[in-house]
Amino acid sequence: MALLKSSLLAGAVRFQPCLGALQTRASSWWSHVEMGPPDPILGVTEAFKRDNNPKKMNLGVGAYRDDNGKPYVLSSVRKAEAQMTAKNLDKEYLPIGGLPEFARASAQLAMGENSEVIQSGRYVTVQTISGTGSLRVGANFLQRFYKYSRDVYLPKPSWGNHTPIFRDAGMELKGYRYYDPKTCGFDFAGALDDISKIPEQSVILFHACAHNPTGVDPKKEQWKELAAVVKSRRLFPFFDMAYQGFASGDTDRDAWAVRYFIEEGLNVVLSQSYAKNMGLYGKDNFHTVLGCFVAARQFCESLLGTTVFLLLQVNVLGLSQ
Ligand SMILES: Cc1ncc(COP(=O)(O)O)c(C=O)c1O
Repeated sequence: MALLKSSLLAGAVRFQPCLGALQTRASSWWSHVEMGPPDPILGVTEAFKRDNNPKKMNLGVGAYRDDNGKPYVLSSVRKAEAQMTAKNLDKEYLPIGGLPEFARASAQLAMGENSEVIQSGRYVTVQTISGTGSLRVGANFLQRFYKYSRDVYLPKPSWGNHTPIFRDAGMELKGYRYYDPKTCGFDFAGALDDISKIPEQSVILFHACAHNPTGVDPKKEQWKELAAVVKSRRLFPFFDMAYQGFASGDTDRDAWAVRYFIEEGLNVVLSQSYAKNMGLYGKDNFHTVLGCFVAARQFCESLLGTTVFLLLQVNVLGLSQ
C-alpha cells in the first residue's frame, strides 16, 4: 500500500506540468456549458445566514432543528446507527435492485402492513439515491417503457426540481391548476377542470401529502373525486411521497391518498424519500437516504406476461463509507 501511494504521488508530480494544457483543452470542450440557475431554496439559506435578526427562523429547508436552531438527529436514527455499527456489516455490493429487506419495509410503510398488494406480491421496489434519484429513475423508466404518452402533468406550482428531473429524462412538461393564491388553498374546481381535459393515458404527478412548496393538500373527499377523474381519463398517476408523516404526524394518514388510489384499482408509480421524515438529509458513514418508483398493469403485462397489478417502487439506501 505504501508503495502504491508513493508511486501514485510520483505520478501526480510528474504529470503536473501537463495539467495547464489539459485544462485549456478541457475549457474549450466545455465552454458552451452554461452555469445552472442558483437553487432558490438554498438562496433562502444564504439570506438567512446574512440576516442579523436574533429572532430569525429558517423556513427554507424542511430539516429538523432543536430549540436553538441547530440540526437535530432523531433518537431513533441514533439507535439505528448504533445497531448497524454493532453488527459490523460488510461493505459488499447490494443486489442490483437494492436491499430486499429495506425494499419490503419501505413498501409496507407506504402501502400499510395489511396491504393486499404486498401480500399478493403485486409490486416491485427498486432502491435509488434519495427521493430525487427515485424520481429520476421513475421518469426515465416512463420515458423508456411507458408507450402511451411522453406528457407529464405537474401541479402548478410544484417542487422546483420536478421540472428538470422529468425534462432531462425526456418527458414533456405540462401542468394543471392546483394552488389558489386568493384563498391560499387548493383550487379544487380548477384542478378537476384541468385534469378532466388532460389527454387520456398521460402521466399525472401528485404530491402524496405536504405539497411542496404550498403545504396545501386535497381533503379525502377531494382525493376521491380526483381519483375518479384520473380513472375515467385513464391517466397514469405518479405519486411523489417525500413527506410521509410530516403533514399529520401519522405515516398511515399521510399515505391515505396513495393507498386509496391503489384500492381503487389504479396502477401507480410511487417515489419515496426518507430525507425529511427521518431527518436523513446527508450521508454519513452508514447511510444516505431513500426514494422509490413504480408501477402498472401494462408494465407488468409486458415484463412478466401476466395481468396482475404491478407497483414498482424505488427506494434508496446508500451504504457508503
Ligand atoms: C416534493 C419533493 N419531492 C422530492 C424531494 C427530494 O427528496 P430527497 O431530498 O430525498 O432527494 C423533495 C425535497 O425537497 C421534495 O420536496
